[in-house]
Amino acid sequence: MSYGLLKGKRGVIFGALNEQSIAWKVAVKAVEEGATITLSNTAIAIRMGQVNDLAKQLNCEVIPADATSYEDLQEVFRRSQEVLGGKIDFVLHSIGMSPNVRKGRTYDDLDYNMLGKTLDISAISFHKMLQAAKKQDAIAEYGSVVALTYMAAQRTMFGYNDMADAKALLESIARSFGYIYGREHHVRINTISQSPTMTTAGSGVKGMDRLFDFANRMSPLGNASADECADYCMVMFSDLTRKVTMQNLFHDGGFSSMGMSLRAMATYEKGLEEYMDENGNIIYG
Ligand SMILES: NC(=O)c1ccc[n+]([C@@H]2O[C@H](COP(=O)([O-])OP(=O)(O)OC[C@H]3O[C@@H](n4cnc5c(N)ncnc54)[C@H](O)[C@@H]3O)[C@@H](O)[C@H]2O)c1
Repeated sequence: MSYGLLKGKRGVIFGALNEQSIAWKVAVKAVEEGATITLSNTAIAIRMGQVNDLAKQLNCEVIPADATSYEDLQEVFRRSQEVLGGKIDFVLHSIGMSPNVRKGRTYDDLDYNMLGKTLDISAISFHKMLQAAKKQDAIAEYGSVVALTYMAAQRTMFGYNDMADAKALLESIARSFGYIYGREHHVRINTISQSPTMTTAGSGVKGMDRLFDFANRMSPLGNASADECADYCMVMFSDLTRKVTMQNLFHDGGFSSMGMSLRAMATYEKGLEEYMDENGNIIYG
């Protein structure tokens, strides 16, 4: 169902790789809501993924950019304004990658060159994006910028590795830049902290299927899907949230406020049965 929330708005969406991608769902919904958009991803992702199919479906242009390259990002904003015919109203940063995770390096055995890459791709790229846009005055007054993040920025989550540090930095950049961009141009900058979601990046997280199940049982509303995340992005890009900025917004079915749920406890107890003697006492060891 469309509400016309983004009627006449222009947007740039980074990070749609395939149909599972959260950015893919955001792009589809943004157009449904009346926006015109450009898409961006790395040259290799454009070649290997299905971004061009999405562009065809949505009748929009794909502008290649490595998000670690300031020059590439400058070009994305220059070209997007050109093809969309004016300043940009909303931007989605949906980019994350850790070479340490890919290579199976654990958090107490990080390769520091790879850590630098994790931070550059997954967090500093957000600063580069904002700086490139601001220097061109590419974002319209009360424009809205959203980056996707995960709760491992606040709480330790098994297996999330150096991406946790990247997300903490990403959220900090949203606040620091949000102050300056808000003060000078009324541009809003927020992060949405999404539930575990089965995507290409999500599958890279160690034990993702169990993490997904655990989060689902812990959350009173269950995990938020990629489609529901896209719905939330529509609200954040719309004029209905003009005074929301510098926030980390949890979109996780309530997970971040939970301690223990009945459903998670029931599963835990079932698992514990293996460790109980005939009198119901837990056998440790
Ligand atoms: N999937 C989850 O469980 C989950 C949960 C919370 C937050 N997030 C965040 O959502 C965002 C989108 O991830 P997704 O789950 O849709 O997975 P995805 O794999 O579909 O998207 C990740 C994107 O990052 C792009 N990318 C990687 N390196 C890049 C670079 N150097 N320059 C430009 N783009 C680059 C990839 O090409 C891909 O399109 C990420 O920031 C991720 O951390 C995901």
